[in-house]
Amino acid sequence: MLDSKDKGADDQFLSDVIQGLSQTQKTLAPKYFYDATGSALFDKICALDEYYPTRTEVGLLSDRAGEIAELVDGQHLIEFGSGSSVKIRILLNAAKGLTSYVPVDISREHLFGAAESISKDYPNLDVIPVCADFTRSFDLPDIVDQGAKAGFFPGSTIGNFSRNEAHDFLAMAAGMLGDGGGLVIGVDLKKDPEILKAAYNDQQGVTADFNLNLLARINRELSGTFDLDSFAHDARYVEDKGRVEMHLVSLKEQVVSVDGKPFAFQKDESIHTENSHKYDIDEFHQIGRETGFEPDRTWTDKNNLFSVHYLKVAA
Ligand code: AVI
Repeated sequence: MLDSKDKGADDQFLSDVIQGLSQTQKTLAPKYFYDATGSALFDKICALDEYYPTRTEVGLLSDRAGEIAELVDGQHLIEFGSGSSVKIRILLNAAKGLTSYVPVDISREHLFGAAESISKDYPNLDVIPVCADFTRSFDLPDIVDQGAKAGFFPGSTIGNFSRNEAHDFLAMAAGMLGDGGGLVIGVDLKKDPEILKAAYNDQQGVTADFNLNLLARINRELSGTFDLDSFAHDARYVEDKGRVEMHLVSLKEQVVSVDGKPFAFQKDESIHTENSHKYDIDEFHQIGRETGFEPDRTWTDKNNLFSVHYLKVAA
């Protein structure tokens, strides 16, 4: 078992928060959304009427499962950021000839729980979990490294990376998957901003709770003094950057402390908590080409809301 998660995860959280809140535009990294409460809220987001990405991607994967299974057959299938390993089941039900399934996730508990349940449900499949931060380069077990490999990166998680980070990740994945390999990746598409605004400002306020949980988490884990009623969720589509930005806006002038360190907020000043980049198909193909892939297949739904791509590692 590999474990590249460093022991000082809590120290890292504190130093990232202090650093983020010390900038002119205050920021908090979206990876910190996902504690147990945040992960449960995210699952609720995925089931919302307004949040089209999950059901649209699941529809595409289900419709194309046979085709995708043929593309990844005979290979180790590596899932980047596997979480609860839910969507992979659509492929595992169709792909009977996989060499192994390799879920990669930084959350050890999540990873092993999910790997165990996949092993139980697919007794003939070799499941080889790897505990690692997939956004940095990490080692694969030799048996996987030496074989043919396909990658799976659903959910448009790539959208939460900056364009540079998306480049770096894809280049790393192309190098890791190697000759003959390919990547199945879900990518949210540019569209009518009203659809995006509704998706990130749902009526029930689940996305607002998800965003505000970041402050609650800082209170719980880093002795923060955020008053959650003094901050409001805000999600806006920024057209020239092609992204939805999530912010937490201070409703008044206030001072908040984290681990005893004070941070002053003006009224209406925001903490930028997430970017969710949206891509055009051509734009995404171009990034694929720049990072060592050749776009091979692209599937979209009839409303052009979401895309799933099979990028082949370029020869
Ligand atoms: C995980 N990620 C792809 C989601 C997104 O749409 O960017 C996170 C999310 N943020 C608010 N709603 C969902």
